[in-house]
Amino acid sequence: MSAPGPLYSKEAAEALTQRERANQRLQERIRLVLDRLGKCESFLDIGCGSGQYLQAVMAHGVKRIVGVDESPVRLDDARRTCPQAELYAARANDLPFPDQSFDMVLAAQVLHEIYLFGQPGELLQVFQEIKRVLKPGGRLIALDHLDPGPERVRVCLSTQARAQFDYFVKNYKFRTVISEEQADGMLWLSRRDLQDFVTKIWSFGTAMEDLEMRETHCPFERSRLSSELQQVGFPLIEWLEFEPIAEDLIEHGIKLCAGRSWARKFLFVAQF
Ligand SMILES: C[S@@+](CC[C@H](N)C(=O)[O-])C[C@H]1O[C@@H](n2cnc3c(N)ncnc32)[C@H](O)[C@@H]1O
Repeated sequence: MSAPGPLYSKEAAEALTQRERANQRLQERIRLVLDRLGKCESFLDIGCGSGQYLQAVMAHGVKRIVGVDESPVRLDDARRTCPQAELYAARANDLPFPDQSFDMVLAAQVLHEIYLFGQPGELLQVFQEIKRVLKPGGRLIALDHLDPGPERVRVCLSTQARAQFDYFVKNYKFRTVISEEQADGMLWLSRRDLQDFVTKIWSFGTAMEDLEMRETHCPFERSRLSSELQQVGFPLIEWLEFEPIAEDLIEHGIKLCAGRSWARKFLFVAQF
């Protein structure tokens, strides 16, 4: 069977690049990766997108910087951001490199796309492929969205946030959003629905909206990822949860009235 085409249309890729360039949080995520580089001479970024991590790692003094993305449009953006990087159009489960090529592999915000849109079992294949191209002792750093679980929270929405929520409920295709409105106008809804809503508002009206409406930002929890990594003999050596949802809620005029804030991202390091 031939490999599927890239997930993003040209317009969607351009919209995501604009988002990545403007996203303040990306700088914090890049810092988390730089803090963990250690002694690294060869670095591969899988799903490198517009190349922000490549540029930062290059500026940090790493000798060989390589980016892979399935989207040629995204690679054009990466080339503009980091002209010194070697760039390849490839899918993560079939990397065009010999065994034991890299000290470190980064997978930032790409594992959920592989898991949600790839073939069944593709994520496991990707972990195997990453292990193959890492040198002995090499490390995989992954960052992605974290599942906050089904617990319900109560929120109060500004008028604008309420209109955005109604739009989301009508247009979200990944699952049916269930909320319960109280007499005082507050809403009960699951953490998952709130996380998907608030982290997708940025895409409304852009060329990324269609894709965002077909996927979830709550795909992974620690135990499942850790057991998939164990299956390929790739143990987790660090797990970090970060980016409190409370910051997104404040930014979008949403008040959490019952239930606690949670971290909406994880970072893990696995060592071969
Ligand atoms: C959400 S973006 C993240 C970009 C960048 N890593 C960041 O964190 O800013 C995901 C990227 O992974 C790429 N991608 C998705 N599935 C892929 C696959 N199976 N193999 C290679 N690249 C993939 C997409 O084209 C996109 O550029």
